[in-house]
Amino acid sequence: MSAGVGTRAVAPALRPLRGSVRVPGDKSIAHRAVLFNAAAEGTARVHGVPGGADVRSSIEAMRTLGARIEKLDDSLRIDGCALRFCAPHGPLDCGNSGTTMRLLAGLLAGVGIDVVLDGDASLRRRPMERVARPLRAMGGRIETSEGHAPVRIRPATLHGATIALDVASAQLKTAVLLAALSAQGRTEVSEPVLSRDHSERMLASMGVSVARRETTLSVNGPVVPRAVDVTVCGDASSAAFFAVAAAIVDGSDVVVEDVCLNPTRTGFVDVLRRMGARIETTVTGETAGEPVGTLRVRGGAMLQSVEIGPAEVPATIDELPVLAVAAALARGTTVMRGAAELRVKESDRIAAVAEMLRTLGGNVAETPDGMVIEGGSLRGGARVKTHADHRLVMGAAVAALACDEVVEVEEPEAAGVSFPEFFARLESLR
Ligand code: S3P
Repeated sequence: MSAGVGTRAVAPALRPLRGSVRVPGDKSIAHRAVLFNAAAEGTARVHGVPGGADVRSSIEAMRTLGARIEKLDDSLRIDGCALRFCAPHGPLDCGNSGTTMRLLAGLLAGVGIDVVLDGDASLRRRPMERVARPLRAMGGRIETSEGHAPVRIRPATLHGATIALDVASAQLKTAVLLAALSAQGRTEVSEPVLSRDHSERMLASMGVSVARRETTLSVNGPVVPRAVDVTVCGDASSAAFFAVAAAIVDGSDVVVEDVCLNPTRTGFVDVLRRMGARIETTVTGETAGEPVGTLRVRGGAMLQSVEIGPAEVPATIDELPVLAVAAALARGTTVMRGAAELRVKESDRIAAVAEMLRTLGGNVAETPDGMVIEGGSLRGGARVKTHADHRLVMGAAVAALACDEVVEVEEPEAAGVSFPEFFARLESLR
């Protein structure tokens, strides 16, 4: 037991979960709406920015760099600085947010200022050479601290380059695209499998011509994006917790409204369907170039095990922890492969999820790039470690619904990184 760490008790679901919920604005889209508009020429209104700590890190960083960001009643007003940033006096604090740090590294690599990017203990453990290397290939002068944050960016003149990423990563792809804005000439970036494509959608809506060919993107620089109003749709990754909750509690009927249904984000829906869950998605419109709609999940028969391979990992990456919870309650053995990226998220999510499920009575084996999960039932009646990782906290709370006894979830406040209202919304469905 970890002394001095707070917990939250989550009781089993004694009745089906029912109702309609909303989730906060999508974290990935909101980071981009803030960072891109603050770097752009002109003024934009951004609606639906989530209140979580991660996006706040992006907002504060852009203020320090000279963008004017004003909080209005229901939106942010952002006056962009047209890629002319002020050099900050001290390190920029990216908090827990890998997206803030990696996107800023790309954005700032060629704008002529000296900047240090830093973050909390978890972010300081995450790999940063993977973003420094492609930026150096474009002429960037980036130093990491033995591969990690703090990351120092010195003034440099960038040139276009052809970058082949060896991991499918929207953060790395976006860092290169943002560096390309201030680079001379054509930059091409490709990834092994398509990762979430919010950046290319949003940059295109800001007048930046982004050519797409399968998993390769190219941009001709230098080019300054034009500010664009954005309404951020609900976070698909947050919706996934309610989708699994409804799928594992018999008789449930839960609707999540106004959620991002971009196919690069809804891999969890496909996986849950293969497991036998009853899920309907209905696209009702489009905001900021993203399909938006409702997700309805009904809990019924026991789920079946499933195989998740490398081609499916980028579209499910943040949902794999909660999909592992579903697998632990399914009939048969689930195998996840090609997901080594989980080891370098806010925590080592392979080790942490395996540990959490075992604590609850599950049978899980770690592999270097995934997990083998023997489905069955979960006991609960235990206290689970979450490594202050928001997705572990919410995953453990969902697992608790299907346990026989109460689960004590450690460091529940970490949910605030992406979904401060998570526990209240979950309780509202009981
Ligand atoms: C994100 C991309 C993913 C994801 C992260 C958010 C983004 O990371 O896990 O939560 O907004 O670009 P990688 O790009 O490192 O896979």
